[in-house]
Amino acid sequence: MGGFFKSSIGRKVAMALSAFFLMFFLLQHFAINILSVFSPELFNEVSHFMGTNPLVQFALQPVLIFGVVFHFIMGFVLEIKNKNARKIAYVKNNGAANSSWMSRNMIYSGLAILAFIVLHFIDFWFPEINTKYIQGDWSGTIEGVEGFRYYEELTHKFVSPIRVGAYVLAFVFLALHLLHGFTAAFQSMGASTIRKKRLQSIGKAYSIIIPLGFIFIALYHHFNH
Ligand code: HEM
Repeated sequence: MGGFFKSSIGRKVAMALSAFFLMFFLLQHFAINILSVFSPELFNEVSHFMGTNPLVQFALQPVLIFGVVFHFIMGFVLEIKNKNARKIAYVKNNGAANSSWMSRNMIYSGLAILAFIVLHFIDFWFPEINTKYIQGDWSGTIEGVEGFRYYEELTHKFVSPIRVGAYVLAFVFLALHLLHGFTAAFQSMGASTIRKKRLQSIGKAYSIIIPLGFIFIALYHHFNH
């Protein structure tokens, strides 16, 4: 296993696998969040299920956190290794001739997403952990709100235009990161040329539709409450 991570291709495959896992998470995260636009009741039900189901809480959630941390650390390792491998810089490294602008800037779009995740955890994740694991309140209800509390809490977060702006900006970075990420991940997994074309179009569609969908959710709640 150690040998696998020591080889450049091993690290890239590990990066690609963790990326696909996170893309799958993002898809289900989006599927649940979009419910908040169409049916607050259903959104509440699903959120309560996800928030209290032992399998989700004690198996999937730790795997997800591991996936995020792994992807982040591996991204840094790859960036540093690539920089070192190029100690003697290209004689000419200006522009699209060598590599696309985004591919050279994955680390920056990645850092923007990381900053978003910190904000996002302060907004949603830490309060959840506090309510359930520290206060010991698993009821999913709150005084003054009929039914479950999740929809009410979510809409509150999209009142401030500054926070909504930060979210939207982060989702733009997410789109840029995904656009290059998909191409790179398929490359690392060694997709054949014909299959690659089809996969790349699916990847492009995903990279644009999912972040746009998140932007829609944030703006929808901002302008409807
Ligand atoms: C409008 C957009 C979004 C909304 C409304 C939203 C909402 C939420 C909510 C309510 C939670 C709390 C779940 C819990 O109970 O722990 C959560 C968790 C989380 N979100 Fe988002 N989210 C959005 C976008 C994103 C994006 C774009 C990403 C990734 C780049 C992301 C990553 C996460 C992660 C990693 C968690 C922790 C999951 C867990 O272990 O519970 N979210 N989000």
